[in-house]
Amino acid sequence: MLSKTIILCILITVVFGYLLMIPGNHPSKWAPQNHALVKDWVSRIRDIFRGLLTLTPAHEKPADRRTTEKDGHDQLALKIFTKLELSKYKGDKEKKKPIYLAILGRVYNVSKGRKHYGPGEAYSIFAGIDASRAFVTGDFTEKGLTDDIESLKSSQLFELQNWASFYDEKYPLIGYLLGRFYDSSGQPTEVLKKIDHQIQEYKEEVKKMEAAKNQLPACNQEWNPTGSRVWCSQKSGGVSRDWAGVPRQYFQPGSTSPTCVCARDPRNHHHHTLKEYKGCDMLATSCNVLSE
Ligand code: HEM
Repeated sequence: MLSKTIILCILITVVFGYLLMIPGNHPSKWAPQNHALVKDWVSRIRDIFRGLLTLTPAHEKPADRRTTEKDGHDQLALKIFTKLELSKYKGDKEKKKPIYLAILGRVYNVSKGRKHYGPGEAYSIFAGIDASRAFVTGDFTEKGLTDDIESLKSSQLFELQNWASFYDEKYPLIGYLLGRFYDSSGQPTEVLKKIDHQIQEYKEEVKKMEAAKNQLPACNQEWNPTGSRVWCSQKSGGVSRDWAGVPRQYFQPGSTSPTCVCARDPRNHHHHTLKEYKGCDMLATSCNVLSE
């Protein structure tokens, strides 16, 4: 069992190592949604090896960026960087100089992540600048490496905020970058306030959509030569619940054709967007839908 685990780990490590090394196969060219997953795998594999070889503790606790604040420096005591100053912190081959990067105008000391941000490493492009936009677009060209995020969609801004939280967790915050997001006294600019507001609205919207999805989860569906069968179960629509519900046609506002959802209360006729399936008992949890 143990040897199987080791072989599997070696295989996965070799495959990802190989992918990362192929010229022109920079991670940014792969689907960003896989990123967290891949990073998680890599960390797990590394942890397994560490555990097996007892080289280093399996989980090094990430540095708490709040130490700066706990140590008696409040946020305003953090340094205000100009773009020029920040550009001097890209590290060096001798691994002596520190490496800083900014995201949403917040400057972090990422020196302990030298293997990612040091000269010549995969993410060295982020060192010494605020390239907020590239974190969500994956555009690592000169034009893409910018802090101009005005045209990003709310979902991308949300994703960007998640990246900022990642840095909050892993690296010490050491200051603010004077410019688009912070003013010379380290206060958020109108641009940053507007973005924060937009992200907040997006989160609320997502919450509402999630709540609606939990109320009316999608049905299971299978197709056959004469039509299809729709049915409800306690896990249909990816929503785990203690009720199954009955299939109903749901006429979503703005949509031309109905979708099948599971209604919790079969007798609820008040919901004008829900309609029973023709020829199917009102209480049936499964309905055959004939093609028209
Ligand atoms: C928008 C695209 C992407 C961005 C902005 C991005 C950014 C980053 C950054 C900043 C790091 C260093 C994190 C740290 O400080 O610990 C990192 C690590 C890493 N990334 Fe990406 N990445 C992207 C896409 C990808 C993709 C598509 C893959 C693979 C499918 C990938 C694989 C990895 C791996 C394996 C690591 C190292 C994990 C570790 O050793 O802990 N990245 N990425």
